Amino acid sequence: AELKALSAQLLAAAPGPAGHGGGTLGLVPTMGALHRGHAELARAAVAENAVVVASVFVNPLQFGDPVDLERYPRTTEADLAVLDAAGVDIMFAPPVEEMYPGGEPAVRVTAGRLGELYEGASRPGHFDGALTVVAKLLHAGRPDTGLAPADPAGRQSYRAYFGQKDAQQLALVRRMVADLNFPVDIVPVPIVRDSDGLALSSRNRFLSDGERDAALVLSRALRLLRRRADAHEPLDIPSAEELVHMTPGVELDYLEVVDPGTLAARAENCQDTPFTGQALALIAARVGPVRLIDNVTLG
Ligand code: PAJ
Repeated sequence: AELKALSAQLLAAAPGPAGHGGGTLGLVPTMGALHRGHAELARAAVAENAVVVASVFVNPLQFGDPVDLERYPRTTEADLAVLDAAGVDIMFAPPVEEMYPGGEPAVRVTAGRLGELYEGASRPGHFDGALTVVAKLLHAGRPDTGLAPADPAGRQSYRAYFGQKDAQQLALVRRMVADLNFPVDIVPVPIVRDSDGLALSSRNRFLSDGERDAALVLSRALRLLRRRADAHEPLDIPSAEELVHMTPGVELDYLEVVDPGTLAARAENCQDTPFTGQALALIAARVGPVRLIDNVTLG
């Protein structure tokens, strides 16, 4: 209630006509341990909205492994500085009891079949937990007053920002919003990488120097596929897999080429025929103590 009141108050004071940032609110859901990837989401939201709320909440519901939950980095003070520098108005960092007052919720969002593929296959229940908290955050973050009506082009004045880094999460959030009529626009933000290609992740800090070097093979394998797609050659996925298998310390989980919208495995499999159209290549691997994911758009 305090969050809604605060953002309504800021919206009332915000300048500018609706559709040009006035009367619009951007929400940036995160689990904290913020890096330049998160900062980019925050900056995108700040550029397009009168008021921006970023949430920092390590959601127990989406962790299968209690050890993973326990060791997830918590860096609240530094997070506040990152959000402040990006121009975020409000950081919403509720304690667990505030998000789940009666303990775990009895009723949840289920991600369905797409939630069981790829990341979901090795993390059962993960996407149900993530979608449930995103649903809660979308409701908690939406002010009761001060939001402009949707603009003439049908754009909502409530927008939530998600990184393409978590492509499956982004696809599922979009499905949830469409399937369950959430009055919010989901805005995708491109992956932010280190200069050597490694996609930024809160979990990268757990990699030793050697493991970090080895982890570069994920983005290298994806770049190989993209070069072939750009040249309209067959993708030859096994050779990209081979690149990963040859790297000591890296255990490939999956490398899949999928439809960018539905994430269905691409039927016309890019093996013997030249690549055409658009697709998404998804990769996941275990490197030392962590599981890393990355993806790239093809075509
Ligand atoms: P978290 O892992 O903290 O990520 C928060 C947001 O930052 C997600 O939308 C994610 O895709 C985006 N992000 C992370 N790394 C990125 C990078 N290198 N480039 C661009 N965007 C990046 O995803 C979650 O938290 C949670 O599941 C959450 C949605 C908050 C629900 O608990």
